[in-house]
Amino acid sequence: MLQTGPISAASQTDVTQEMAARLKTALTTHLEQVYAPDQRKKLRLFSATESAELLGVSGQFLRKGHSDGTLPEPEVISNGRRFYSGAELWKMRHLLEAGSRTVGKYVPGRREGDKLQVIQLMNFKGGSAKSTATIHLCHYLALAGYRVLAVDLDPQGSLTGFCGLQTELEFDGATIYDALRYDDPLPLRDVIVDTYFPGLDLAPARLILSEFETETAVNAGRGEAFFERLSRALDSVEDDYDVVIIDSPPALGFLTLTGLFAATSVLVPMTPSMLDLASTQQFVEMTSAYLGVIENTGVRLDHDFFSFLITRDDPSDIPSQQIVSLMRALFQDRVIPSTAVRSTAVADASMLKMSIYEVTRAEMTRSTYDRARHSMDAVGSDVAHLIQKAWGR
Ligand SMILES: Nc1ncnc2c1ncn2[C@@H]1O[C@H](COP(=O)(O)OP(=O)(O)OP(=O)(O)O)[C@@H](O)[C@H]1O
Ligand SMILES: [Mg+2]
Repeated sequence: MLQTGPISAASQTDVTQEMAARLKTALTTHLEQVYAPDQRKKLRLFSATESAELLGVSGQFLRKGHSDGTLPEPEVISNGRRFYSGAELWKMRHLLEAGSRTVGKYVPGRREGDKLQVIQLMNFKGGSAKSTATIHLCHYLALAGYRVLAVDLDPQGSLTGFCGLQTELEFDGATIYDALRYDDPLPLRDVIVDTYFPGLDLAPARLILSEFETETAVNAGRGEAFFERLSRALDSVEDDYDVVIIDSPPALGFLTLTGLFAATSVLVPMTPSMLDLASTQQFVEMTSAYLGVIENTGVRLDHDFFSFLITRDDPSDIPSQQIVSLMRALFQDRVIPSTAVRSTAVADASMLKMSIYEVTRAEMTRSTYDRARHSMDAVGSDVAHLIQKAWGR
């Protein structure tokens, strides 16, 4: 039952406790409605046209594959139209790759000798669309056939929520905190969960992750350096993935720094406004100081790319476009060519803890959906390009 009306409590502690309780009930109610009846998130089905596009083949090629038996028919065929599940797409991709003469055409991930790509999205400016950009990249890459591990380094757990684990509801399992903690840490493998999205696994987060900040301060100078902890944990699962995408909290604390050390590349999401520009300047300056401290311990940090990603871009807004132009003039190819456009389709999907890849075109104004989808695809494709470049392709 939602409680409304004035809060009358004796102390400020009781007032805030009541506020937290009311918010929790409201969130639980909202989530139960979204995930009813079994409270589990599922991935939608993909039409034949969309599936062909995702696989990079023609619709005709797909139909031929079904008729000559090289590709299995999907389970759902309604009114003669085929609908594919994420798992069926994943399977077809591997069948196509096995029969293809060009290596990596359908399964574009790591080959012998390619190093695991670890991309961290970070900016201490809150609300710069880090989590939104992270989940869209994860979904884009997984749909493109990469084996992706999402790592939630933010105690707020936004990425964890996007991946279908609701810390407000049932989820109370192990989190990335358990793999990073100083006292008897768990192997990362025991913390990782698979998601309902084929190709995407998650190292989840909950509020307790914020303990890492305090414990690191207490443990300073003892044992291995704090910033090596995530990198060490990732080493233990590195064979299972092509790409790791890390979401960070809006702070440049120990959590973000352990991510930065593990990262082979960094993306700085930034909304094109004057305030964000100023904040990003401070952020980069502080990052540089911290990188200096880490490098003074004798380690060399070598990122494949360290680039800006323009988020919530509104091409019709002139002042913001001046900032986009300024960023491009200052940093050229260190600004991702495509931008994530500001879109009600993305905002609406995120209300349901979904990416644009999870909602269907029919649920929204088509042109709104298409614009948002094209923009997220373009950003994903630019990043995939950088990943391939890091592998020398
Ligand atoms: N392309 C977009 N179009 C419209 N709204 C967006 C877009 N990207 C993000 N948003 C909205 O902006 C808000 C902030 O986004 P998000 O939570 O991803 O930022 P964040 O940087 O992860 O925040 P925090 O610093 O709290 O972790 C959210 O309400 C989100 O829905
Ligand atoms: Mg976030």
